Amino acid sequence: MKNIVILISGTGSNMAAIVRACSRDDWGVRFGARIAAVVSNRPHAGGLAWAAQEGIATAVVDHKAYPGREAFDLALAEEIDRHAPALVVLAGFMRILTPAFVQRYEGRLVNIHPSLLPAFPGLHTHERALAEGCRFAGATVHRVTAELDHGEILEQAVVPVLPADTADTLAARVLTQEHLIYPRALVRLLSGGVQKP
Ligand code: GRF
Repeated sequence: MKNIVILISGTGSNMAAIVRACSRDDWGVRFGARIAAVVSNRPHAGGLAWAAQEGIATAVVDHKAYPGREAFDLALAEEIDRHAPALVVLAGFMRILTPAFVQRYEGRLVNIHPSLLPAFPGLHTHERALAEGCRFAGATVHRVTAELDHGEILEQAVVPVLPADTADTLAARVLTQEHLIYPRALVRLLSGGVQKP
């Protein structure tokens, strides 16, 4: 069985889109894959309750309980490794990971970022796209490397920036596309459509 562990920090709408795609498109039958667990660094992340209702194992590794990034990442890895994951999927997981953590999951670790990378790595992507007068915005699914929001691009989606857009309306338009491209990227990885680096 190819276990997928999803890491979240908040609402978890990308996580939910992946869970729905997994059952709707029979990832179990097609790829021998399943969502093994959802892990959050925030005890009150909304996505945790949703995942639990779906019958998925959930866990919290609260970053505030650890003295630093190394200790937190070690505890997080311990939780993740209980599921011997084929893929570790960052879905709105708002922590910067240590190089050791990234190396441990090399080739298995992916992220979604709400911009057309390599434009606008980091935070406040929609505000920055609007401030720059971009006519298009979007989202990127990419492999995770030690450098923030870098790594091989696996999928992208583009949306128009409309004249009346605020950061919120643009974020909502981008998010609907995120929910399409993240499952699509995982299907390609699970089916061997992307070579390991
Ligand atoms: C998404 O826009 C994702 O790209 C970014 O954080 C947001 C998380 O949303 N990293 P959700 O928790 O998946 O609803």
